[in-house]
Amino acid sequence: MNASKWRYALAEPTLGSEEALVAKEVVESGWLSMGPRTQAFEEAFAAKHGSAHAIAVANGTAALHLSLLALGIGPGDEVIQPSMTFAASANMTIAVGATPVFADIISPEEPTIDPEDIARRITPRTKAVIVMHYGGYPARMSELMALCKAKKLLLIEDACHGPAQRVPELGHRALGTFGVLGTFSFFANKNMTTGEGGMILSDDEGLATKLRLLRSHGMTSLSWDRHRGHANSYDVMVHGLNYRIDDLRSAIGLVQLEKLEQANSARRAVAKTYSRAIEEANLPDLTYVFGDRAEFGAAHIAAILTPASKRDDIRTVLRDERIQTSLHYPPIHSFTAFLDKGVEAGQLIDAGLPMTEEFASRVITLPIYSGLATEDASIIADTLIQAFEPEFA
Ligand SMILES: Cc1ncc(COP(=O)(O)O)c(C=O)c1O
Repeated sequence: MNASKWRYALAEPTLGSEEALVAKEVVESGWLSMGPRTQAFEEAFAAKHGSAHAIAVANGTAALHLSLLALGIGPGDEVIQPSMTFAASANMTIAVGATPVFADIISPEEPTIDPEDIARRITPRTKAVIVMHYGGYPARMSELMALCKAKKLLLIEDACHGPAQRVPELGHRALGTFGVLGTFSFFANKNMTTGEGGMILSDDEGLATKLRLLRSHGMTSLSWDRHRGHANSYDVMVHGLNYRIDDLRSAIGLVQLEKLEQANSARRAVAKTYSRAIEEANLPDLTYVFGDRAEFGAAHIAAILTPASKRDDIRTVLRDERIQTSLHYPPIHSFTAFLDKGVEAGQLIDAGLPMTEEFASRVITLPIYSGLATEDASIIADTLIQAFEPEFA
């Protein structure tokens, strides 16, 4: 089915005339590559999250890659991380020559990494832990921070789902500021978007300097510095990459950042509409994930749990009503590139990740974006609940 035929798409960016205007201004300014808007975007993003440094990059995957490189993670190192996330963290672990070790989620109702399972998987080679705040709902940060401190492991937060999400019980600190580094994505489906784009947060000045070097070929100065006469030449200090963002995206990012809290609360309203409708329907087979924490997450993903045996039929009912659904996520350990030899792609293997596998077999993700009206979320919830009526069961 063509995306334009959906009555309710899974995700839609919310962009307006302000974004169009600043993009036009950048085009007219004659400076497109990384420059003054990127600096302003970094400063604003760092301030919004209460972090000392923000480094803007090409996308969230680049943010993870640079983080692993800056922390010196490489061949022989193991990085404990979730399988229930997007493939980027595991792919980037392999890209630096290290080994991803998957730890289970706590439960299908709380699909963030389980600190106890991490503890069981620590070996002398373990160097770091990557945590992902599924849907923008905080992972168990106090336990994770205590564990990483005790075991001298580097904690990296993949906060792609939770920009500007504060954690009341942890001093109102923002997601992405608990780890040594925190990474974000501004892909088109994210809570704030620049089309493609990403950010890394850090309080460590040395790491921030290293990240800036690695982002741009290891060079000591940027074109923008030379353009302003701040440098005549450059040296290459480390073997870097080109993971720069550009000023067009940064200008759009600045506008999106201003609207972020509003966008997050519009998403929360959708999440609350779904969770309330599902709670009132009181069906034993239907649960809204993190329904009890709707106030405390960035509502990037609207996930429900159904019995595995009914999932395809329920998705078909929704599809027939032109409501797009998805599965976040097929677990990484089931992808061809990550499979043990002799196991077919898509087949869930016994990787000692029972909660991840149960969640993966039961989850459906529903439309959620800041432009989705709560009236429309109610229509989607009603359609979903009707799909559980006996004639569909
Ligand atoms: C949890 C998570 N990590 C990393 C990424 C990678 O970000 P990007 O697509 O900007 O490379 C994404 C999303 O796309 C994501 O959802």
